[in-house]
Amino acid sequence: MHGTHVLLPQNNHLLSAMTILRDQNTDNKDFVTAFGKVAAELIARALDHVPVEFREITTPTGAKYQGVRHATKVCGVSVLRAGASLEDALRIAYDGPVSFGKVLIQRDEKTCLPVHLYSKFPSSFLESFVLILEPMLATGGSVSRAIELVLEQGVPQEKILVVNVIASEQAASLLSEKFPRLSLVTAAIDLNLSPERYIQPGLGDFGDRFYGT
Ligand code: URA
Repeated sequence: MHGTHVLLPQNNHLLSAMTILRDQNTDNKDFVTAFGKVAAELIARALDHVPVEFREITTPTGAKYQGVRHATKVCGVSVLRAGASLEDALRIAYDGPVSFGKVLIQRDEKTCLPVHLYSKFPSSFLESFVLILEPMLATGGSVSRAIELVLEQGVPQEKILVVNVIASEQAASLLSEKFPRLSLVTAAIDLNLSPERYIQPGLGDFGDRFYGT
């Protein structure tokens, strides 16, 4: 892996869920269930980068326990439409203050460049750690534009994490080159892109498979 990128441990728990996601015969219900397992692992790993504060509690035995709690503000930024699939896992996993922003970027058919159509960020954005939610990174063009939008708001690279299920090697390299101080947390790096810009082996169109469209 390049730079500060984090590849989830390729254990059998993860790989069996990824096999279900990648299988063309998996129906929508099983796809969503398997995705939930992968999403929980990704979000847990990403949240390891977010600082905690110490918290002493008393257990039912009367003993003291030196624990921690999430107190830092976290903002999930969903790159629409697929990114919204990761919102539930973040809401469930994080017991501190969490808010959500949205970014809509579409590729221009003629120029092939990513065009920013819409974005909205919460008012607490600048005080937050930002998790950019994007399950599939093919060329990395759209997510780069989303990262630029977040940087333009004044959030430093060190406080941005990209949470992703499958990245092409090309996209992972692009992110390391363009944003060397930002972390990518991913479950898989795949080698190839098809001429239609599908990741290979990949899992097909994530949005269609997740939303059943
Ligand atoms: N988006 C997808 O849903 N799948 C790919 O393979 C690439 C981008």
